[in-house]
Amino acid sequence: PFVVTENCIKCKHTDCVEVCPVDCFHEGPNFLVIDPDECIDCTLCEPECPVNAIFPEDDVPAGQEGFVALNAELAKAWPVLTVRKDPPADAAEWDGKPDKLKLLER
Ligand code: SF4
Ligand code: F3S
Repeated sequence: PFVVTENCIKCKHTDCVEVCPVDCFHEGPNFLVIDPDECIDCTLCEPECPVNAIFPEDDVPAGQEGFVALNAELAKAWPVLTVRKDPPADAAEWDGKPDKLKLLER
């Protein structure tokens, strides 16, 4: 499956959800995750993310391996999102900021 990684936190553009053919994106307060049990590896979402936060499970950035389990865990707790919504007003300021994991809201 594909995995949403750290740079989505506080950016949350949601362009990704519109293209998913199996509606497997789930939304939290400031982050989205992919349900690994539903993702069919179609690859469509990866280029849609303006901040390049989506990766194949086998190719997540170094140090972000924990996001594989985090996507699986939070997909069970959060509701599905299928329609794009406006990103946070300050999304651009958070693109590429380090150590955003500690800012993840559940
Ligand atoms: Fe959905 Fe395809 Fe992305 Fe998986 S790879 S989350 S099926 S758009
Ligand atoms: Fe996050 Fe990128 Fe989707 S910022 S909500 S993974 S378009």
